[in-house]
Order: sequence, then structure tokens, then C-alpha cells
Amino acid sequence: MTDTTRTPRHVAIIMDGNGRWAQQHGKERVFGHARGVESVRGAVKAAIRNGVGYLTIYAFSTENWGRPTEEIDALMELFCKSIAAEAPELRRQGVSLHIIGDTQGLSPEVREHIALAEQQTADGDKLVLIVALNYSSRWELTEAARAIAREASAGTLDPDAVTAETVGARLATAAWPDPDLLIRTSGECRLSNFLLWQLAYSELYFTEVLWPDFDEREFDKALDNYRQRDRRFGLIKN
Ligand code: FPP
Repeated sequence: MTDTTRTPRHVAIIMDGNGRWAQQHGKERVFGHARGVESVRGAVKAAIRNGVGYLTIYAFSTENWGRPTEEIDALMELFCKSIAAEAPELRRQGVSLHIIGDTQGLSPEVREHIALAEQQTADGDKLVLIVALNYSSRWELTEAARAIAREASAGTLDPDAVTAETVGARLATAAWPDPDLLIRTSGECRLSNFLLWQLAYSELYFTEVLWPDFDEREFDKALDNYRQRDRRFGLIKN
């Protein structure tokens, strides 16, 4: 039976299909990314309205550096512009913004915009919005492994005492619960180096809808679908 009261605490999204959307509309790829920002706005609103506590979005992967320079530059400019423009509204909505990823690899300008927006929204208590920027799961896990190795060699961590919690506590997402639901748009059915550790027991929802067309109604549809899932976490359920 459908349990309409069950809402995921944490939703993660791989926002895919901006380029194809732009192509379908006879526009440059960057136009699709700009429209994608509107979908982010809708997802934030829908998350708050539904009582979702955490929303993580994949904005730029470490692999995305392989794209043409013009597209990367346009994306970075879009991040700066959007972060600065949206911060006051996010604050008003009670959203606290956090960036995860290898921020050292971002330009000083992007880093400044991030720091300012994180500061401006620090008090938000309705929704935690986590933006993965220059992020990849293998980067994050490698960093965690490095931290653990350093602590072990310094004698502050017993290698035999290392557990899954030890690893989880050294991930960029240590402060937050794992996602209950992962959404990927545009019909691609893969994880693309996104939250590989954290998605271990998440429900996966793939839709053909391209990210710029993923509006609040589509978000609600994904949540309705999630509410019909039978989560087992590896256990037997009657
Ligand atoms: C994937 O579509 C999308 C991206 C790599 C960029 C996502 C960024 C945004 C939606 C802007 C978000 C802004 C903020 C402030 C967080 P694609 O280019 O891979 O599309 P394609 O597969 O159709 O080519």
C-alpha cells in the first residue's frame, strides 16, 4: 500500500540533460545550464514544501574539466552569478548552503562567492542545500583514505579499530544523513562517480525528463514514487 506520509529526509539529484535540452531548442549548451538554475530553484521550493531536510545536487564533477573551455568558463560564471543572486532568497526561505568538493581546484573568485553565500545562509534551518562542485566520489574516498593513513601513521588511530563509521566521519558529507532517494534526469541510468559510499541503500529514480524541464511537479512525482518503495536495508521484511 502507498504510504503518503513517508517523505525522504535527504534527496540527491544528478541534474542531467541541459545540453540536449538546449540543442532541442536550437540554443547554445550554456542556455540549457541557465535554464537548469530555474529547475534548481523549483527543486529547493518543492523540497521545503514536502519537508525534505537535505537536498544534494551535482553541479560540476571533477571529470567535467574535460569539457570545452568556453563551456567550463560559462558554467563557472553561472555558478558565481547564481550563488550571489540566490543567496538572499535562500536565506529568506531558511536554506543553509554548503559546497562539497575539491574547492582548492576552483578559482579564487568562485571560492569567494561560495564562502560569502555559505556565511550569509549559515542560520537556515528549513533545508540544507548541498552543492557538489568539483566533486567526485573517488576524490572524496581517496581523501578519506589519506586522512586515515595519516592518523594511523601518526599513532592517533588504531588501524584495527577502523570501521565504516571511521570512513563515513572523514567524508565531505560527514555532518549529514545519507540520501534516501537519488534522482537522475535525462534517461541516463548510472551514478557517474556521485556519492558512491552514501548511496549504498538509497532508492534510485531515473526519469527521461531533461533537467531544465524537471519542475516542482516532477519533483513531487519522484517523491510519490519513493513512497511506494519497500526499503529493506538488506533485511527480510514481512
Ligand atoms: C549536466 O547536463 C549538467 C551540468 C554538468 C551542469 C549542471 C549545472 C546547473 C544546472 C547549474 C546549477 C547552478 C547552481 C548555482 C548550483 P549536461 O551538460 O551533461 O547535459 P547533456 O548530457 O544533455 O549534454
